[in-house]
Amino acid sequence: TTVEWEAESYDMGGHDTYMHKEIHEQADAVDRALRGRIDDRFSTVHLGGLNLDAREARAVRRVKILGCGTSYHAGQIGAQMIEELARIPADAEPASEFRYRNPVVDPDTLYIAVSQSGETYDVLAAVQELKRKGARVLGLVNVVGSAIARETDGGIYVHAGPEVCVVSTKCFTNMVVSFGLLALHLGRTRDLSVADGKRILAGLRKLPAQIEEILANEAQIEELAKEYADAKSMMFIGRVRGYPVAREASLKLKEVSYIHAEAYPASELKHGPLALIEPAMPTVAIVPDDELLEKNRAALEEIKARSGRILAVAHSVQEKADHTIVVPKNEHELDAILMGIPLQLFAYYTAKAMGRDIDKPRNLAKSVTVE
Ligand code: AGP
Repeated sequence: TTVEWEAESYDMGGHDTYMHKEIHEQADAVDRALRGRIDDRFSTVHLGGLNLDAREARAVRRVKILGCGTSYHAGQIGAQMIEELARIPADAEPASEFRYRNPVVDPDTLYIAVSQSGETYDVLAAVQELKRKGARVLGLVNVVGSAIARETDGGIYVHAGPEVCVVSTKCFTNMVVSFGLLALHLGRTRDLSVADGKRILAGLRKLPAQIEEILANEAQIEELAKEYADAKSMMFIGRVRGYPVAREASLKLKEVSYIHAEAYPASELKHGPLALIEPAMPTVAIVPDDELLEKNRAALEEIKARSGRILAVAHSVQEKADHTIVVPKNEHELDAILMGIPLQLFAYYTAKAMGRDIDKPRNLAKSVTVE
């Protein structure tokens, strides 16, 4: 595939792996996703390729996002952003499941196919089935001119640049940023106020510098990764905005380190997974400083009471955690964009400490173009 061709043709630029290089390219990548799209006059964004005029945007009753793996997780964050900013009911589903369950295809639903490569067969097949049934499908894609970009009615290029490492990092971040742009755009055609539009635009503009700030903390993350690399299994928890971040971080760790990892909503701990908590099962907790902070802190207490080790990713040092990686705060609707970034480095350094083949994990391919 084109993706494999790309894999051999880009310079590593002094980094030991493409994963490390691509993690460090994220501030520039986000800057590219924003460039030329911000409209200060109307506190919104222009998304040239969307092919959805204001009247059509207002007629959307639901949003359904389809993707696989990391892209599905980006879609989960995107769905929450669309609900929060545009107040349109939205959800994400693995395209691989959607296409096999004879879904009800609704003419008032806007479907969005999200894919780095634009070639993932399950996503493409879902797009084709939706088109056959007359649905409107947009693409949120990285590779320009790819099959999904061609077959959709319009969409957003995420502009992350070529991603070579099999595990996705900068594309995930740019997908989530692109969902933020779309949510703002849809919000501003509806009830999102000028003041809130301005606030979100200011938040988006802050992202590249905040990403640099997170990456500057690399030495601490490397040390923490070494400390936790002895775990056989890890739990990742988060609530609402933090939950898809936990899912993506657990996938990243699994893919590159082969450490078993589970992601749960923190609210579900007491309904079962708490039984797993013991000193040999560390927990990574996503703890944004939002309306759920106290609830998240209560979950940390429950884990501590069972002698579980805790690594928190938070906006301030968490007393109950053994370690905290502090991440800069943005607007709460955009916090999910930043909170996963240190955990990309955490996965990278864990895999490195274990001597894994980071850019080409066993059993995985960059683009799954078969069923
Ligand atoms: C990413 O870390 C994985 N390699 C994988 O989950 C990937 O996101 C999935 O296969 C979908 O690929 P796509 O974004 O190219 O459609």
